[in-house]
Amino acid sequence: MRLLLAFAGCALAARLAHTPKANSSAATIPSHAYVQVETDPKGAIWPWRVFKSSPYTPPNMTITVNQGELADGFIFMTPANINLSAPAAEMDGGFIMTSDNEAVFALNTSGITDFRVQHYKGQPYLTYWSGYNTEGANVGHGYGQVNFVDSSYSNFSVNPDLGLNKLVTTPVANWSIDIHEHLVTPWNTLLVSAYNNTPWDLSPYGGPVDGWIADSLAVELDIETWEVLFKWVASEHVPLSESQLHINASAGIGTIASPWDWFHINAGEMVGSDYLINSRHCWSTYYVSGTNGSVQWRIQGVTGGDFGPLPADSTFSWQHYARAHNVTPTGMDLSVFDNHNTIAVNGTPSNGLVFHLELPPSTSYTPQLLRKIETPSEPIYADSQGDYIVELSNGNQLLGYGQIAITREYGPATDGSDLRWQAQFGGLNTVQSYRAFKHVWHATPAAWDPSLVVESGYAYVSWNGATEVEAWNVYVANSTSANGTLVGQAAKEGFETVFEVPAGAATLQVAAVQKGDEVRRSNTVHIGSVW
Ligand SMILES: *[C@@H]1O[C@H](CO)[C@@H](O)[C@H](O)[C@H]1NC(C)=O
Ligand SMILES: *[C@@H]1O[C@H](CO)[C@@H](O)[C@H](O)[C@H]1NC(C)=O
Ligand SMILES: *[C@@H]1O[C@H](CO)[C@@H](O)[C@H](O)[C@H]1NC(C)=O
Ligand SMILES: *[C@@H]1O[C@H](CO)[C@@H](O)[C@H](O)[C@H]1NC(C)=O
Ligand SMILES: *[C@@H]1O[C@H](CO)[C@@H](O)[C@H](O)[C@H]1NC(C)=O
Ligand SMILES: *[C@@H]1O[C@H](CO)[C@@H](O)[C@H](O)[C@H]1NC(C)=O
Ligand SMILES: *[C@@H]1O[C@H](CO)[C@@H](O)[C@H](O)[C@H]1NC(C)=O
Ligand SMILES: *[C@@H]1O[C@H](CO)[C@@H](O)[C@H](O)[C@H]1NC(C)=O
Repeated sequence: MRLLLAFAGCALAARLAHTPKANSSAATIPSHAYVQVETDPKGAIWPWRVFKSSPYTPPNMTITVNQGELADGFIFMTPANINLSAPAAEMDGGFIMTSDNEAVFALNTSGITDFRVQHYKGQPYLTYWSGYNTEGANVGHGYGQVNFVDSSYSNFSVNPDLGLNKLVTTPVANWSIDIHEHLVTPWNTLLVSAYNNTPWDLSPYGGPVDGWIADSLAVELDIETWEVLFKWVASEHVPLSESQLHINASAGIGTIASPWDWFHINAGEMVGSDYLINSRHCWSTYYVSGTNGSVQWRIQGVTGGDFGPLPADSTFSWQHYARAHNVTPTGMDLSVFDNHNTIAVNGTPSNGLVFHLELPPSTSYTPQLLRKIETPSEPIYADSQGDYIVELSNGNQLLGYGQIAITREYGPATDGSDLRWQAQFGGLNTVQSYRAFKHVWHATPAAWDPSLVVESGYAYVSWNGATEVEAWNVYVANSTSANGTLVGQAAKEGFETVFEVPAGAATLQVAAVQKGDEVRRSNTVHIGSVW
């Protein structure tokens, strides 16, 4: 019987100058995905996966529905602890996951939001917000920066000083951009949200004369120079009386210590050279002129605003992720993630809605309901956050439930009767993911190698973020001074592939194979062998 011991400290970071062709006659080495789930004995923390070759601990999703054709791509999410004093996610960060519960990439930065793929100048990038999330009386927004990560995982950030009054000093001194929106526009600029605290006479609204508001801004930025190209300040264009969240409710009492978050911008996009801006607390989406910032029209989730009233079974409130589709001079479709709940007012299921709007608006045109996506038998009540992606690549639809750690993929049916995939990745109301996305993503890390660990006669290999690896070529030397020889190939399985160490190995190294070619070698593990 042989006994193999791994000396972790002996791992050598060896890299080949050349990348030889794969040995197509190499023997197949049986392999499988390493699946180890850890659980918290107290049950407070959602079950998580562990690996030998990676320190990251993605959530072990509970997949309760998985049927029918799913859209291509991976799930993107940012599981985070809702109560920072009561950890509920083993790793608070960004994850790219397959729909069958395998991690693809783990990003170890806590409190990030809006992790997704966007195209900038024709190239795909991972984009996400990182920074400081406000707490206590100012909860619900943040000050941070937007990060762009290319398909080799090198990155840059966009971090302008927007001259905001943040009412907090450390650790936000260098940050301005809010958690909610970071959308690359068709003009290769970046539309972001921001929050600025401003003195305001709040006596007409039942607040102090020398009161304060947390005002909402939409800002369009040049991605390279960080120059401000357009700045829209909600209080300059929308009467505060449109707010549906009154002073003394859960969004501030209007003092400097607790400014009134009367508007709460949480989504925006460019439509031509104009802007569509969503206000959670006004229950309204505004169409704003790109020329002068004036509100051209609003749709209000109950009254209809400048349109006729919404159909009774499709009103919306506290909504997120307003997006325009099929825009013409005479109409557009508008989608929203309709939370329909706050901590104060609960009890209506959250859902995805699409309306057709006739333009220019008129109160004689009633918004027409095109889609209402929900599962009445398993309603979800999301007090905050969430998104609704109307068109995945194959016509499927994705709903992220924000404060409720569930993501659903529906087929194209307009009523949500075709639920195809559902995953839970955290405790209800203890773990949140601000938004969820599904994207195709092809990437090969430049800055880090595949990671190989040997333990008790088995080899474990992973390469965080590498999406294209098909197999691992396995190199073995029978003495620690010899160069390794290719002895076979193990198919890549899951985030971490495990295979039995070939007999007689004194050193072990693997090489990632993509499209038949070796692209990168792992560290070399020296194996102390006793025969
Ligand atoms: C290719 O693999 C075979 C079988 O494992 C081995 O005999 C041969 O030496 C390998 N060739 C090279 C160039 O490593
Ligand atoms: C993740 O980042 C935190 C904060 O920088 C650090 O303390 C922790 O060790 C990191 N975890 C891993 C697995 O690298
Ligand atoms: C991990 O997830 C899988 C797939 O959803 C599930 O079958 C398994 O029960 C989960 N394990 C734990 C401990 O939650
Ligand atoms: C957050 O968790 C801490 C520790 O368990 C608890 O004392 C506190 O009440 C929680 N806060 C909220 C708002 O639930
Ligand atoms: C981005 O770059 C910084 C160094 O500038 C690095 O610490 C960080 O890990 C990088 N993030 C990603 C996702 O590559
Ligand atoms: C960040 O802010 C601090 C404090 O205002 C300042 O000392 C530091 O130079 C700033 N860093 C950057 C990168 O702007
Ligand atoms: C809000 O609370 C403050 C302080 O508790 C109080 O003075 C004020 O009358 C309240 N306003 C409303 C509209 O309830
Ligand atoms: C603002 O610009 C729009 C066109 O985008 C125009 O229709 C409107 O009259 C302008 N309003 C003001 C106050 O200049």
